[in-house]
Amino acid sequence: MIALPYDSIGLGKNSPWKIVMIPNDIIRIKRNKREIPAVDLKQFIWEYSHQQISDKDMTKLLKAIFKNGMTREEIFALTESMIDSGEKMDFSFLSNYVADKHSTGGVGDKVSIILGPLMAAAGLAVPMISGRSLGHTGGTLDKLETIPGYRTNISLDEFRRNVNDIGISMIGQTEEICPADRKMYALRDVTGTVASIPLICGSIMSKKIAEGIEGLVMDIKIGNGAFMKTIQEGKELAALIRDIGENFNVKSDIVFTSMDQPLGRYAGLWCEIKEAIDCLRNEGSDDTMEVTFALGTKLLLQAQIVSDENEALNLQQQLIESGHALEKFLKMVAIHDGSLSDIASLHTLHLPKEETVLSAEKPGYITNMNTLLIGLAHCELGCGRKKLSDNLDPTAGIEFYHKIGNQVLEGEPLMRLFNTDKEKLDKALKLLKDSVEIDENKLEHHLILDDNKAN
Ligand code: URA
Repeated sequence: MIALPYDSIGLGKNSPWKIVMIPNDIIRIKRNKREIPAVDLKQFIWEYSHQQISDKDMTKLLKAIFKNGMTREEIFALTESMIDSGEKMDFSFLSNYVADKHSTGGVGDKVSIILGPLMAAAGLAVPMISGRSLGHTGGTLDKLETIPGYRTNISLDEFRRNVNDIGISMIGQTEEICPADRKMYALRDVTGTVASIPLICGSIMSKKIAEGIEGLVMDIKIGNGAFMKTIQEGKELAALIRDIGENFNVKSDIVFTSMDQPLGRYAGLWCEIKEAIDCLRNEGSDDTMEVTFALGTKLLLQAQIVSDENEALNLQQQLIESGHALEKFLKMVAIHDGSLSDIASLHTLHLPKEETVLSAEKPGYITNMNTLLIGLAHCELGCGRKKLSDNLDPTAGIEFYHKIGNQVLEGEPLMRLFNTDKEKLDKALKLLKDSVEIDENKLEHHLILDDNKAN
């Protein structure tokens, strides 16, 4: 039984009364599909982030939420309590439009690493807090940490200074900002409770609101490799994000993109940093650039830096071609103590010791890629965690030679898997055995599924 003073329910700090909350009572409410009163939910989250509720009890609550969902009021209370678990940034001293991008998570999604510097080069201020790999999806933070020296856990003062000085800082979840999300995010990853709209919404929006941004663009991934399998689920999340954004004065735009196949040429750790640099050098794959530009267009319009989509596209293309976006990325790496000489020799760093290929079993057109399996295989290679203490392998990843709609010959390589652990490599290859479907008829694949005009 826990007794603690809880200010926000009206009892002052010095009140002789203590609110007594029994975690099991709260868990039982959710297990019984009833609404947890906001005050109790806030207390539960507060106690968890202050080490007064165990991971075991939080796991029980997460599982009940995962199974039974949450009402709009509960999602608001969850988001608010996660914001209140830490500090809230304030960038109102900047004259730039302060904005960020977030994705619900995918395989091969390195867009933040390209879009952040691109938007900063366009004049936006981008304070970006990124996450680690979650479930089968990759984490921007894990990728950034493969840059030798790059510090992702800087103080909030330094974070603020970086954004002020160069227009961008990309860091990880901190002790100060949304510590509740930091703990819950890591716990969800290893307890099978990731793919829950209320939990995803609370996790994303608490971090973004606490960043002190004015605008947000969300990439909601839909498909067999996403947490949202259908556009209906995506739209449910989109409506909540807009609703919460509006409540906290954050202008939120949404882009729905397909995660029915991995994005870009690689999924992994260092290999995705290399690919992001290729994109900033104007050598990006069409699909990665299409998603980047679609998201960037929303932010540039929000910031009123451009007046229409054409202008937004032209500006982004020009910032890439001129090298300004790459320059911003390099400045960000340097300000975070990342090694620019390692970036310069990026093709000789983190070289994998093992590799193998997955080949086509028959000729035809690729009609389906099981992106969940591909994500799980990339985690198995060393790009994600099965338990909190798992170490990642910066050399690990998958290269994709083909995508949906491509014609292949029997025996032709479809993917190259690489890492520095033969046993894991073999396991990953086994997982991928039936991950690609080939048929004699060609199938169209649409990357940008919808946009918020269609809502
Ligand atoms: N990104 C987050 O920050 N949280 C989630 O739960 C999913 C994606």
